[in-house]
Formats: sequence, structure tokens, C-alpha cells
Amino acid sequence: MSSTANTLDWIRVCTIDELPTVGAAQAQLDGRIVSIVRAEDGSVHCIDDECTHGKVSLSEGEVSGCTIECWLHGSRFDLRTGKPLCPPATVPVVVHHVKLDGDDVYVALSEEN
Ligand code: FES
Repeated sequence: MSSTANTLDWIRVCTIDELPTVGAAQAQLDGRIVSIVRAEDGSVHCIDDECTHGKVSLSEGEVSGCTIECWLHGSRFDLRTGKPLCPPATVPVVVHHVKLDGDDVYVALSEEN
């Protein structure tokens, strides 16, 4: 059955305090490895953890503004859209839905692969 914007399957991941003030933490949700990222403006995002250029973890990268940089070759991804902002990556990383309820961070996985 497919989810719509009104029927997302929200999964509680952590509390906001368990995330770095600015940075990323890796999590596994329904067998999918994701990065939960707190940006410099305090907003929280969730993207697939694997860089689209190589098989490395984006959660080990550096967060700046509303982007995360892959530590291996330096591609920077927009946390809101998943789009790579500089080479060598050319394929966007999948962005998942995030909501906050009090201090709790919830994620609903995107249906994109
Ligand atoms: S592995 Fe991420 S930019 Fe190359």
C-alpha cells in the first residue's frame, strides 16, 4: 500500500538532544541506513546515509549551513533537496520526511529508492 502525505508511517528515531548541535548521526530504520542531520539553523533533516558517488557514509561528513559534505571526495549535498551542489557526485541523495513532536524526532521514509 502506498503512503500519501496524510498517511506517512512516522518512526520515532531519537530526541533532539541526542543529535549533535550541528552534525549528523547514523540510524537504521526499517533496514534502511539514514543520516539524521541537524543543520546550522537548527533544522533537522534525514537523508540516505550512503553518498551517491561512492559507498561511504555521509553521516561522517561535515555539516555547514544546510548542507553536508561527503568526506571522501568533497561533494556537498543540500539537506532540503538532496541535490549535489558540486562534483563529483551528480545524483541526488534521497531525502526523507522529518517532524518534531516536542523533543522527539520522527522520520517517515520516502518511497524513493
Ligand atoms: S564518495 Fe562521496 S563524493 Fe565521492
